[in-house]
Amino acid sequence: MNVTAAHARAVPAGRIAYVNGRYMPHADAVVHVEDRGLQFADSIYEVCAVLDGRLMDEEGHLDRLERSLAALSIAMPMGRAALRFVMRETIRKNRLKDAMLYLQVTRGAHKRDHPMPALHKSTLIMTVRHVNVGAVEKRRAQGIAIVTSPDMRWGRCDIKTTGLLANVLAKTEARKAGAFEAWLIDRDGFVTEGASTNAWIVTGEGVLVTRNLSQNILAGVTRLGVLQALAGEGFNAVEERAFTVAEAKAAREAFVTSASGGVLPVVSIDGRPIADGTPGATTRRIHALYAEFARAAAQSA
Ligand code: PDD
Repeated sequence: MNVTAAHARAVPAGRIAYVNGRYMPHADAVVHVEDRGLQFADSIYEVCAVLDGRLMDEEGHLDRLERSLAALSIAMPMGRAALRFVMRETIRKNRLKDAMLYLQVTRGAHKRDHPMPALHKSTLIMTVRHVNVGAVEKRRAQGIAIVTSPDMRWGRCDIKTTGLLANVLAKTEARKAGAFEAWLIDRDGFVTEGASTNAWIVTGEGVLVTRNLSQNILAGVTRLGVLQALAGEGFNAVEERAFTVAEAKAAREAFVTSASGGVLPVVSIDGRPIADGTPGATTRRIHALYAEFARAAAQSA
Protein backbone atom coordinates (compact mmCIF):
# COMPACT_ATOMS: atom_id res chain seq x y z
CA MET A 1 0.00 0.00 0.00
CA ASN A 2 1.41 3.45 -0.87
CA VAL A 3 1.63 6.26 1.70
CA THR A 4 -1.43 8.13 0.39
CA ALA A 5 -3.61 5.04 0.50
CA ALA A 6 -2.38 4.21 4.01
CA HIS A 7 -3.18 7.76 5.11
CA ALA A 8 -6.66 7.62 3.60
CA ARG A 9 -7.32 4.44 5.59
CA ALA A 10 -6.04 6.04 8.80
CA VAL A 11 -8.42 9.01 8.43
CA PRO A 12 -11.91 7.59 7.91
CA ALA A 13 -14.25 9.76 5.90
CA GLY A 14 -16.85 11.55 8.00
CA ARG A 15 -14.62 12.31 10.96
CA ILE A 16 -15.07 15.82 12.28
CA ALA A 17 -12.45 17.84 14.15
CA TYR A 18 -12.75 21.10 16.06
CA VAL A 19 -10.15 23.82 15.47
CA ASN A 20 -10.39 27.33 16.93
CA GLY A 21 -14.15 27.77 16.82
CA ARG A 22 -14.91 25.64 13.75
CA TYR A 23 -16.00 22.06 13.22
CA MET A 24 -14.51 20.74 10.00
CA PRO A 25 -13.68 17.53 8.14
CA HIS A 26 -10.74 15.85 9.87
CA ALA A 27 -8.69 15.89 6.63
CA ASP A 28 -8.96 19.71 6.43
CA ALA A 29 -8.26 20.42 10.11
CA VAL A 30 -4.97 22.35 10.31
CA VAL A 31 -3.22 24.92 12.49
CA HIS A 32 -0.86 27.76 11.54
CA VAL A 33 2.76 26.86 10.65
CA GLU A 34 4.00 29.24 13.37
CA ASP A 35 1.89 27.70 16.10
CA ARG A 36 4.04 27.41 19.24
CA GLY A 37 2.64 23.94 19.88
CA LEU A 38 4.31 22.84 16.64
CA GLN A 39 7.56 24.78 17.15
CA PHE A 40 8.21 24.41 20.89
CA ALA A 41 5.69 21.82 22.19
CA ASP A 42 4.42 24.93 24.02
CA SER A 43 1.11 23.18 24.59
CA ILE A 44 -1.00 21.03 26.87
CA TYR A 45 -3.23 18.06 26.09
CA GLU A 46 -5.80 15.74 27.62
CA VAL A 47 -7.20 12.38 26.53
CA CYS A 48 -10.66 11.48 27.83
CA ALA A 49 -12.48 8.17 27.39
CA VAL A 50 -16.05 8.05 26.11
CA LEU A 51 -17.70 4.75 27.01
CA ASP A 52 -21.24 3.88 25.99
CA GLY A 53 -21.87 7.57 25.27
CA ARG A 54 -20.59 8.79 28.63
CA LEU A 55 -17.55 10.96 29.29
CA MET A 56 -15.39 9.30 31.93
CA ASP A 57 -13.64 11.33 34.65
CA GLU A 58 -14.49 14.59 32.84
CA GLU A 59 -13.98 16.85 35.87
CA GLY A 60 -10.62 15.25 36.69
CA HIS A 61 -9.39 15.86 33.15
CA LEU A 62 -10.63 19.47 33.14
CA ASP A 63 -9.06 20.09 36.58
CA ARG A 64 -5.72 18.79 35.31
CA LEU A 65 -6.03 20.78 32.07
CA GLU A 66 -6.49 23.97 34.08
CA ARG A 67 -3.55 23.07 36.37
CA SER A 68 -1.24 22.33 33.41
CA LEU A 69 -2.23 25.53 31.58
CA ALA A 70 -1.77 27.62 34.74
CA ALA A 71 1.71 26.12 35.29
CA LEU A 72 2.75 27.43 31.85
CA SER A 73 0.67 30.65 31.93
CA ILE A 74 -1.31 29.57 28.86
CA ALA A 75 -4.80 31.08 28.80
CA MET A 76 -7.83 28.77 28.95
CA PRO A 77 -9.20 29.12 25.41
CA MET A 78 -12.76 29.43 26.74
CA GLY A 79 -14.59 28.94 30.02
CA ARG A 80 -15.08 25.48 31.44
CA ALA A 81 -18.80 25.32 30.60
CA ALA A 82 -18.09 26.27 26.97
CA LEU A 83 -15.32 23.68 26.83
CA ARG A 84 -17.70 21.00 28.08
CA PHE A 85 -20.15 22.00 25.36
CA VAL A 86 -17.54 21.81 22.57
CA MET A 87 -16.37 18.41 23.84
CA ARG A 88 -19.92 17.09 23.57
CA GLU A 89 -20.53 18.67 20.17
CA THR A 90 -17.33 17.12 18.81
CA ILE A 91 -18.33 13.70 20.14
CA ARG A 92 -21.90 14.10 18.83
CA LYS A 93 -20.84 15.17 15.35
CA ASN A 94 -18.67 12.05 15.10
CA ARG A 95 -21.63 9.87 16.15
CA LEU A 96 -19.48 7.70 18.41
CA LYS A 97 -20.46 5.86 21.60
CA ASP A 98 -17.05 4.37 22.47
CA ALA A 99 -14.22 6.76 21.74
CA MET A 100 -11.20 8.71 22.86
CA LEU A 101 -11.51 12.49 22.89
CA TYR A 102 -8.21 14.30 22.32
CA LEU A 103 -8.02 17.93 23.36
CA GLN A 104 -5.00 20.20 22.92
CA VAL A 105 -4.42 23.83 23.88
CA THR A 106 -1.34 25.63 22.58
CA ARG A 107 0.00 29.13 23.21
CA GLY A 108 -1.05 29.92 19.63
CA ALA A 109 0.76 31.31 16.58
CA HIS A 110 3.53 33.92 16.89
CA LYS A 111 6.68 34.96 15.10
CA ARG A 112 9.18 32.31 16.22
CA ASP A 113 11.05 33.43 19.33
CA HIS A 114 11.78 31.37 22.44
CA PRO A 115 10.45 33.68 25.21
CA MET A 116 6.72 33.58 25.75
CA PRO A 117 4.99 36.48 23.99
CA ALA A 118 3.47 39.12 26.28
CA LEU A 119 0.03 38.47 24.81
CA HIS A 120 -1.30 35.33 23.18
CA LYS A 121 -4.44 33.78 21.79
CA SER A 122 -4.57 30.06 22.62
CA THR A 123 -5.20 27.48 19.92
CA LEU A 124 -7.82 24.84 20.81
CA ILE A 125 -8.04 21.54 18.93
CA MET A 126 -10.28 18.53 19.55
CA THR A 127 -10.49 15.22 17.74
CA VAL A 128 -12.46 12.07 18.51
CA ARG A 129 -11.52 8.55 17.52
CA HIS A 130 -13.42 5.28 17.74
CA VAL A 131 -12.18 2.82 20.35
CA ASN A 132 -12.44 -0.91 19.78
CA VAL A 133 -13.68 -1.92 23.23
CA GLY A 134 -13.36 -5.60 22.35
CA ALA A 135 -9.62 -5.17 21.67
CA VAL A 136 -9.12 -3.38 25.01
CA GLU A 137 -11.02 -6.12 26.85
CA LYS A 138 -8.94 -8.79 25.13
CA ARG A 139 -5.81 -6.97 26.34
CA ARG A 140 -7.30 -6.87 29.84
CA ALA A 141 -8.03 -10.59 29.77
CA GLN A 142 -4.57 -11.53 28.48
CA GLY A 143 -2.50 -8.95 30.32
CA ILE A 144 0.32 -6.90 28.82
CA ALA A 145 4.10 -7.20 28.63
CA ILE A 146 6.29 -4.37 29.92
CA VAL A 147 9.92 -3.53 29.18
CA THR A 148 11.94 -1.11 31.28
CA SER A 149 13.71 1.89 29.80
CA PRO A 150 15.72 4.81 31.26
CA ASP A 151 13.54 7.84 32.10
CA MET A 152 15.01 10.56 29.86
CA ARG A 153 12.23 13.12 30.37
CA TRP A 154 12.47 16.67 31.73
CA GLY A 155 11.90 17.79 35.32
CA ARG A 156 8.20 18.71 35.11
CA CYS A 157 6.43 15.48 34.15
CA ASP A 158 3.48 16.63 36.29
CA ILE A 159 2.56 19.09 33.50
CA LYS A 160 0.77 17.29 30.66
CA THR A 161 2.65 18.90 27.78
CA THR A 162 2.87 17.55 24.24
CA GLY A 163 6.68 17.39 24.62
CA LEU A 164 6.52 13.59 24.47
CA LEU A 165 9.58 12.56 22.47
CA ALA A 166 11.18 10.60 25.34
CA ASN A 167 7.85 8.78 25.83
CA VAL A 168 7.59 8.12 22.08
CA LEU A 169 11.11 6.63 21.96
CA ALA A 170 10.48 4.40 24.98
CA LYS A 171 7.14 3.18 23.65
CA THR A 172 8.61 2.48 20.21
CA GLU A 173 11.39 0.39 21.75
CA ALA A 174 8.77 -1.46 23.81
CA ARG A 175 6.72 -2.29 20.73
CA LYS A 176 9.84 -3.47 18.88
CA ALA A 177 10.47 -5.81 21.83
CA GLY A 178 6.92 -7.16 21.57
CA ALA A 179 5.77 -5.31 24.71
CA PHE A 180 2.75 -3.01 25.02
CA GLU A 181 4.23 -0.45 27.41
CA ALA A 182 7.58 0.80 28.73
CA TRP A 183 8.15 1.50 32.42
CA LEU A 184 10.50 4.43 32.83
CA ILE A 185 13.28 4.02 35.38
CA ASP A 186 14.93 6.94 37.19
CA ARG A 187 18.66 7.23 37.95
CA ASP A 188 18.23 5.52 41.32
CA GLY A 189 16.58 2.42 39.80
CA PHE A 190 13.01 3.34 40.78
CA VAL A 191 10.04 3.09 38.41
CA THR A 192 8.58 6.54 37.75
CA GLU A 193 5.62 5.53 35.55
CA GLY A 194 4.77 4.09 32.13
CA ALA A 195 5.37 6.00 28.88
CA SER A 196 1.62 6.75 28.82
CA THR A 197 0.31 5.04 31.97
CA ASN A 198 0.82 5.04 35.74
CA ALA A 199 2.57 1.99 37.21
CA TRP A 200 1.34 -0.15 40.13
CA ILE A 201 2.37 -3.34 41.91
CA VAL A 202 0.78 -5.62 44.51
CA THR A 203 3.48 -6.87 46.91
CA GLY A 204 3.77 -10.39 48.31
CA GLU A 205 2.02 -9.06 51.44
CA GLY A 206 -0.92 -7.80 49.35
CA VAL A 207 -0.02 -4.11 49.63
CA LEU A 208 -0.84 -1.95 46.63
CA VAL A 209 2.03 0.37 45.70
CA THR A 210 2.15 3.25 43.23
CA ARG A 211 4.59 6.12 43.05
CA ASN A 212 3.80 9.22 45.12
CA LEU A 213 2.85 12.37 43.22
CA SER A 214 5.72 14.78 42.50
CA GLN A 215 7.15 16.66 39.54
CA ASN A 216 8.50 13.31 38.28
CA ILE A 217 5.19 11.74 37.27
CA LEU A 218 1.85 12.68 35.78
CA ALA A 219 -1.01 12.76 38.28
CA GLY A 220 -3.13 10.25 36.38
CA VAL A 221 -6.86 10.84 36.52
CA THR A 222 -7.39 7.06 36.44
CA ARG A 223 -4.78 6.69 39.23
CA LEU A 224 -6.84 9.05 41.38
CA GLY A 225 -10.08 7.26 40.46
CA VAL A 226 -8.60 3.90 41.50
CA LEU A 227 -7.42 5.35 44.85
CA GLN A 228 -10.86 6.88 45.47
CA ALA A 229 -12.71 3.71 44.47
CA LEU A 230 -10.53 1.65 46.86
CA ALA A 231 -10.89 4.14 49.72
CA GLY A 232 -14.66 3.93 49.24
CA GLU A 233 -14.41 0.16 49.75
CA GLY A 234 -12.29 0.57 52.89
CA PHE A 235 -9.21 -0.93 51.15
CA ASN A 236 -6.38 0.64 53.15
CA ALA A 237 -3.37 -1.44 52.16
CA VAL A 238 -2.12 1.23 49.77
CA GLU A 239 1.30 2.88 49.77
CA GLU A 240 2.13 5.86 47.58
CA ARG A 241 5.90 5.51 47.28
CA ALA A 242 8.64 4.71 44.80
CA PHE A 243 9.40 1.04 44.05
CA THR A 244 12.40 -0.49 42.28
CA VAL A 245 12.41 -2.64 39.16
CA ALA A 246 13.60 -5.56 41.34
CA GLU A 247 10.60 -5.09 43.66
CA ALA A 248 8.28 -5.00 40.64
CA LYS A 249 9.75 -8.19 39.18
CA ALA A 250 9.27 -9.97 42.51
CA ALA A 251 5.71 -8.60 42.96
CA ARG A 252 2.61 -10.77 43.25
CA GLU A 253 0.82 -8.65 40.64
CA ALA A 254 1.38 -5.53 38.58
CA PHE A 255 -0.82 -3.30 36.47
CA VAL A 256 -1.02 0.04 34.68
CA THR A 257 -3.73 2.70 34.61
CA SER A 258 -4.73 5.25 31.98
CA ALA A 259 -7.81 6.88 30.48
CA SER A 260 -7.44 4.78 27.35
CA GLY A 261 -7.17 1.37 29.03
CA GLY A 262 -8.53 1.78 32.56
CA VAL A 263 -6.78 -0.88 34.68
CA LEU A 264 -4.64 -3.26 32.57
CA PRO A 265 -2.82 -6.22 34.15
CA VAL A 266 0.93 -6.58 33.59
CA VAL A 267 1.99 -10.20 33.13
CA SER A 268 5.70 -9.79 32.40
CA ILE A 269 8.51 -7.28 32.89
CA ASP A 270 11.60 -7.48 30.65
CA GLY A 271 10.52 -10.95 29.51
CA ARG A 272 10.21 -12.28 33.07
CA PRO A 273 6.72 -13.41 34.14
CA ILE A 274 5.06 -11.73 37.12
CA ALA A 275 4.09 -14.58 39.49
CA ASP A 276 2.53 -17.25 37.22
CA GLY A 277 2.40 -14.88 34.23
CA THR A 278 -1.39 -14.43 34.17
CA PRO A 279 -3.52 -11.43 35.25
CA GLY A 280 -3.89 -11.30 39.04
CA ALA A 281 -7.12 -11.57 41.05
CA THR A 282 -6.48 -8.31 42.95
CA THR A 283 -5.94 -6.44 39.67
CA ARG A 284 -9.20 -7.86 38.29
CA ARG A 285 -11.07 -6.76 41.39
CA ILE A 286 -9.52 -3.28 41.28
CA HIS A 287 -10.54 -2.95 37.65
CA ALA A 288 -14.13 -3.93 38.51
CA LEU A 289 -14.26 -1.46 41.43
CA TYR A 290 -12.78 1.38 39.38
CA ALA A 291 -15.06 0.69 36.39
CA GLU A 292 -18.13 0.78 38.61
CA PHE A 293 -16.95 3.91 40.45
CA ALA A 294 -16.09 5.76 37.20
CA ARG A 295 -19.33 4.75 35.44
CA ALA A 296 -21.43 5.95 38.39
CA ALA A 297 -19.73 9.35 38.26
CA ALA A 298 -19.69 9.64 34.44
CA GLN A 299 -21.62 12.36 32.62
CA SER A 300 -23.61 11.91 29.43
CA ALA A 301 -21.58 12.95 26.41
N1 PDD B 1 -1.65 9.15 28.77
N2 PDD B 1 1.46 8.88 32.76
C1 PDD B 1 1.69 9.40 31.53
C2 PDD B 1 3.08 9.78 31.17
C3 PDD B 1 0.61 9.57 30.62
O1 PDD B 1 0.83 10.09 29.40
C4 PDD B 1 -0.69 9.18 31.01
C5 PDD B 1 -1.88 9.37 30.10
C6 PDD B 1 -0.88 8.63 32.29
C7 PDD B 1 -2.23 8.20 32.79
O2 PDD B 1 -3.04 9.32 33.04
P1 PDD B 1 -4.62 9.25 32.92
O3 PDD B 1 -5.07 8.19 33.87
O4 PDD B 1 -5.06 10.60 33.34
O5 PDD B 1 -4.95 8.90 31.50
C8 PDD B 1 0.22 8.51 33.15
C9 PDD B 1 -2.69 9.45 27.81
C10 PDD B 1 -3.83 8.52 27.86
C11 PDD B 1 -2.06 9.56 26.45
O6 PDD B 1 -0.98 10.13 26.35
O7 PDD B 1 -2.65 9.08 25.48
